Amino acid sequence: MEDINSYLIQNKQRLLDELFDLLRIPSVSADPAYATDVESAAEFIRDKMTQMGLDNVSIEETPGYPIVYGEKIIDPALPTVLVYGHYDVQPADPLELWESDPFEPVIKKTPIHPDGAIFARGASDDKGQMFMHLKAVEYLLNKKALPVNVKFMIEGEEEVGSPSLAWYVARNHDKLKNDVIIISDTGMVANDVPAITTGLRGLAYVEVEVTGPNRDLHSGLYGGAVANPINILAKMIAQLTDEQNRITIPGFYDKVRELSPEERAAIAKTPFDLEEFKKDLGIEDVYGEAGYTTLERQSIRPTLDVNGIWGGYTGEGAKTIIPSKAFAKISMRLVPDQDPDEIPQLFTDYFKKLAPKGVKVKVKNLHGGHPYVTPTDSPGYKAAAKAMKRAFGKEPLPIYSGGSIPIVPLFEKELGSKSILMGFGLNSDAIHSPNEHFGVFNYLKGIETITYFYNFYNQQKNK
Ligand code: BES
Ligand code: MN
Ligand code: MN
Repeated sequence: MEDINSYLIQNKQRLLDELFDLLRIPSVSADPAYATDVESAAEFIRDKMTQMGLDNVSIEETPGYPIVYGEKIIDPALPTVLVYGHYDVQPADPLELWESDPFEPVIKKTPIHPDGAIFARGASDDKGQMFMHLKAVEYLLNKKALPVNVKFMIEGEEEVGSPSLAWYVARNHDKLKNDVIIISDTGMVANDVPAITTGLRGLAYVEVEVTGPNRDLHSGLYGGAVANPINILAKMIAQLTDEQNRITIPGFYDKVRELSPEERAAIAKTPFDLEEFKKDLGIEDVYGEAGYTTLERQSIRPTLDVNGIWGGYTGEGAKTIIPSKAFAKISMRLVPDQDPDEIPQLFTDYFKKLAPKGVKVKVKNLHGGHPYVTPTDSPGYKAAAKAMKRAFGKEPLPIYSGGSIPIVPLFEKELGSKSILMGFGLNSDAIHSPNEHFGVFNYLKGIETITYFYNFYNQQKNK
């Protein structure tokens, strides 16, 4: 059989068609209305695994959506690579901002993707990137050239905090035993600046409820005399950060690891164009914690953001009320060594103190995850770096990402293995946003790079 590059040219249409079939399944894990679609996506992955010749392929039932498992054990004496990815996607709304149907993929050219990009929910996060792994191993299996053992574990609840994965991993230590975990669910700096993610932020996510009077009131008859929960909530939120845009929660920064000047100098070497950044987002200026660059604010510093706020009357026209309740969803991105089990408690204690007597405050802890950092001298990192060098003709940069993949630190704790975050997306892919897309170049380059990874990993382990 031909080498990988001619294979990709010859099979390009089929590789796109197969991914398109997966992208047509609206596997939105957050919305129960899509439950059967999420199950169908799992069955789709299972069938692909079976067709490519993996063994012990199964849909593993969990308390939530299933995990699709499949493996190829060439020789128990060889190293084993575990591939993780997710087949669920974020909700597509707001639908009216999509230029094409989120679940009917189309290829369109963009300035960044002159060869075209696949527009669909999940194209980059993570169906497109996860599917590259199946297709890379399919190629190696056909060629009888898979040099190591491989296990696949593809889940359907990543976008809702992976509630069942910890349950599954805890029960399957032996089955999932591996030497390294490889994940493509992150990004590069640019198509000519490959990167491997060596840091992820953690997450603490809370929902707050502020209750004032026991019912909505006439804002003329009662206005001025009782606490309006929305006014109060706005004041409380405003007090969570100070003039320097530092978070005011007592103890919040206690465990934050400050980076050394050398580490900060390394971050500053990442290509970054502030003017482009502003232009792309349509903003006149950036905004964030004093004393840190935009790249640092986006990756190595913790954050607090309101994700949504509601309450009172939001319908047509004017309704004169003092609402009974106000709500907000608040996420905090965490950095080493902040603890997602501790931070919500610090938040809750402080948030309750900020409230005047006239309201009651409830805080619900929704989900969280630990931050992650991984060294650049492990066999897995070195193999990934060599693979990217070969595919892109350039050494990849190690980068800290601001995003979170909470199961990565969990894998390290439960299975004792490092995760290599070799992603092929770009920040401009609009993941979680309308018009998500993934470059055709990135999709094919990803498949190519992954085939190299297996060979270099085998060599690394044989040293
Ligand atoms: N793939 C993303 C995370 C990501 C994207 C990391 C790009 C680095 C670069 C993942 O699917 C995701 O969206 N994670 C969530 C956390 C989860 C608990 C909902 C996130 O970061 O908001
Ligand atoms: Mn993802
Ligand atoms: Mn995501």
